Amino acid sequence: MKVLVLGGGGREHALIWKLSQNPEVNALYCIPGNGGICEQAICADIPLTDFRAIMQFVRVYEIDFTVVGPEQPLVDGIVDAFQAERLPIFGPMRRAARLEGSKIFAKQLMQKYGIPTAAFGAFDQYADARRYLDALPEGPVVVKADGLAAGKGSLVCPDKASARQALEQLMQDRIFQEAGSRVVIEEFMEGEEASLFVLTDGTDYVTLLPAQDFKRVYDNDQGKNTGGMGSYAPTPFVTPPVYQTVIRTIVEPTLEALQREGIVYRGVLYCGLMLTADGPRVVEFNCRFGDPETQVVLPLLETDLLEMLMAIQRGELRRIKVRNRSGAAVCVVLASGGYPDAYEKGKVIQGLDQVPDDVLIFHAGTQKVGERLVTSGGRVLGVTALEENLEKAVNKVYQAVDKISFEKMHYRRDIARKAIEFLKQQSATASEENESIN
Ligand code: AMP
Ligand code: GLY
Repeated sequence: MKVLVLGGGGREHALIWKLSQNPEVNALYCIPGNGGICEQAICADIPLTDFRAIMQFVRVYEIDFTVVGPEQPLVDGIVDAFQAERLPIFGPMRRAARLEGSKIFAKQLMQKYGIPTAAFGAFDQYADARRYLDALPEGPVVVKADGLAAGKGSLVCPDKASARQALEQLMQDRIFQEAGSRVVIEEFMEGEEASLFVLTDGTDYVTLLPAQDFKRVYDNDQGKNTGGMGSYAPTPFVTPPVYQTVIRTIVEPTLEALQREGIVYRGVLYCGLMLTADGPRVVEFNCRFGDPETQVVLPLLETDLLEMLMAIQRGELRRIKVRNRSGAAVCVVLASGGYPDAYEKGKVIQGLDQVPDDVLIFHAGTQKVGERLVTSGGRVLGVTALEENLEKAVNKVYQAVDKISFEKMHYRRDIARKAIEFLKQQSATASEENESIN
């Protein structure tokens, strides 16, 4: 089997790493890949917007199966293009990918089918949006560009004055170009966030372990939103009863809503959740695996990934049983100085050879220059450790991180810290309850 992965980040490196474990796979390809992926896959530099050239590559190299990493090609209809030529590919078609491609579409679907999410207004005129905002009570509010904005299109505003500014930036200054021609203004929700990957063939579905990612650039959730500075799984905040509620009130109603709308959804339905005091609610849907959640969820997955993705593409998911290993995984992202704003590239990465073999290094913004590995992006590496519990995994990951360096490298030191405290509290409460029973 020859398998192609589209994308060049940490998520795609994790996909390649996991796909390579299938004994039938004898060659892996990646477009465009990165400095780490090219150790495991043959990389080609073709723009992900050029579907014709990608399909030509698939024909020339006789690729059997293609897996799409990022959202943009899905939203642009790459799956439709492949299917028209009968080339097997994993991911939702354009109409289904709108769930991520248009926030207004997603919100209206949730509203129509009673799927819990933040109250909202959707606007294509600045004056209407401004009037809606002005009528809201004082307090935090979220302003979102309708279209894709590389994960940066949601502006969480602490008060109405900054929300007005955000609205101007999106709709008038067009800081995200056309993505901001329509906006969603949304109630601010409070709680722990969780990411749940639902894999569906349009009829059946399975879920992977619930994860948490860390979007803000600095410790204690300070600073700007990023693509994600770390992750861990499974998150204890999704307790078994919370999981059941998510399935009953969000996952199944959403899959049913899609069916009723005549949308066949085949791929990953990424549910971004807020666990509020009133129960879990949807922050957003994505039409692909999350980054960097994939870097912790896949290492914990025992089931063969390629079999699962191919079964979905064929509409045969019912044959697949998902098994996960016990324990926990933690991923810490090492970023370039300045990220998520402007940063320099070309810094030499050192110390990877000092990292123990059982720690996984997923490359994101790296590039091979001769024998040297240098930085080439904002998020540079994702370091993932697996252990029997979260605390051990955290200790192991930070010991590994200590070995790695490049000029102006920065990372968060508090990945999974709150979850460990939560677990300790839980076990203290459990032992108190036991004592009172005895
Ligand atoms: P999104 O682009 O919708 O995924 O939003 C990016 C991030 O902004 C989310 O992961 C949350 O941290 C935050 N966010 C988005 N919407 C809300 C909301 N309604 N309330 C609170 N935080 C939000
Ligand atoms: N980790 C967030 C995302 O992939 O959108």
